[in-house]
Amino acid sequence: MRSISIVGVGLTKFGEHWDKGLKELIAEAGTLAIEDAGIGKVKIQAVYAGCMASGRFNGQEHIGALAADVLGLNPIPATRLEGACASGGLALRNAYLAIRTGEFDVALVVGVEKMTEVDTGDAGFALGGASDAETELFAGASFPALYALMAQAHMAEFGTTEEQLAAASVKNHKNASQNPYAQFRNEITVADVMKSGYVASPLKLLDCSPITDGAAAVVLMATDVARKMNAARKAVEIIASAQASDTLDLAHRNNLYETAAAKKAVQDAYRQAGISAKDVSFAEVHDCFSIAEIMAIEALGFCRQGEGGKFTADGHTAIGGKTPVNTSGGLKGDGHPVGATGVKQAIEAYWQLNNLAGARQVRGAKIGLTHNVGGSGATAVIHLYRKA
Ligand code: COA
Repeated sequence: MRSISIVGVGLTKFGEHWDKGLKELIAEAGTLAIEDAGIGKVKIQAVYAGCMASGRFNGQEHIGALAADVLGLNPIPATRLEGACASGGLALRNAYLAIRTGEFDVALVVGVEKMTEVDTGDAGFALGGASDAETELFAGASFPALYALMAQAHMAEFGTTEEQLAAASVKNHKNASQNPYAQFRNEITVADVMKSGYVASPLKLLDCSPITDGAAAVVLMATDVARKMNAARKAVEIIASAQASDTLDLAHRNNLYETAAAKKAVQDAYRQAGISAKDVSFAEVHDCFSIAEIMAIEALGFCRQGEGGKFTADGHTAIGGKTPVNTSGGLKGDGHPVGATGVKQAIEAYWQLNNLAGARQVRGAKIGLTHNVGGSGATAVIHLYRKA
């Protein structure tokens, strides 16, 4: 099977960008990625753009063509992928699959979302489109509310506490404080989380990822082609790519305390790479809410089902712990421009495996994992990486 690697990355700062639109964000991240790859944009053969809801946020659809246009890449094919908050991961996976078939040797993957142009209510409604609109969104269930139901189920089943949930946010803010691209660079304490005010019980403001603008891009190449073009110096190989689906609404799940799609996708990914959870050196997981990180580390096999809260509160997911999780700061600390998040996760894997993560560096990192989820878990995309 053809080996495929990330050979260059570009990221905008995540946060509120009043002076930049979708075009500027894409141009900044895309240009940085092409420069980092050092191959020249004429070598790019296709664009895959992940974006969830630019129509609702910005009145702009057609993000694939827009990306090719602003980056001066016409007339190469450009395609948008939408899988709610997993749109970036889907774009990466589809570019990977296209290169694997031999259709292309080099593709640019861009993820973008500009969410702060609308107020929180409208942003919540746009994001709610990732749930079952008929039975959840129109019934008044926001995303914080849906994840609050999952948190309540986890607490009832396993005795997980609000303080254990808070420990995930505390750790992610600490990591984000070391990440110059992060939206929030302030450290917080469990006490800060506990007094931050309920959004949807038991989730409080500091259990939630924020509303964010940002873009992320990677250049993906067949590894042998990258070597021939002298572009493989920082190459990070994708050693597995897997995806699975679950019911759109929570009502039809077997239970609310585990994420079946992520479990299925990660089993496929581990099988493809011939590894198991204990081989993973670090992971970027989709902590749109603190409970999502707890359920993610259980689904990925870093700890046993039901023990994610204790595992986190005991420090096993901190940098220096058994399995560092969200060294970048995660969605909580970095911010969550939904279409960009899955691509940003891959960038953190690239930096970690190239020993370029600075104060966030995981010593001796060999294998990285990214876990990108759409909606309340209806789409799950997993990638595994190692230095090529
Ligand atoms: N974490 C930490 N601080 C946050 C924050 C968060 N998640 N969200 C907002 N803030 C801060 C802001 O920076 C601002 O601080 P300032 O007063 O010092 O400038 C303050 O809180 C108020 O910000 P505001 O934008 O008015 O917050 P809000 O009440 O409108 O929105 C949430 C807060 C939690 C409702 C919103 O961030 C949200 O909906 N998050 C979830 C997003 C989501 O569902 N994503 C998809 C997941 S599947």
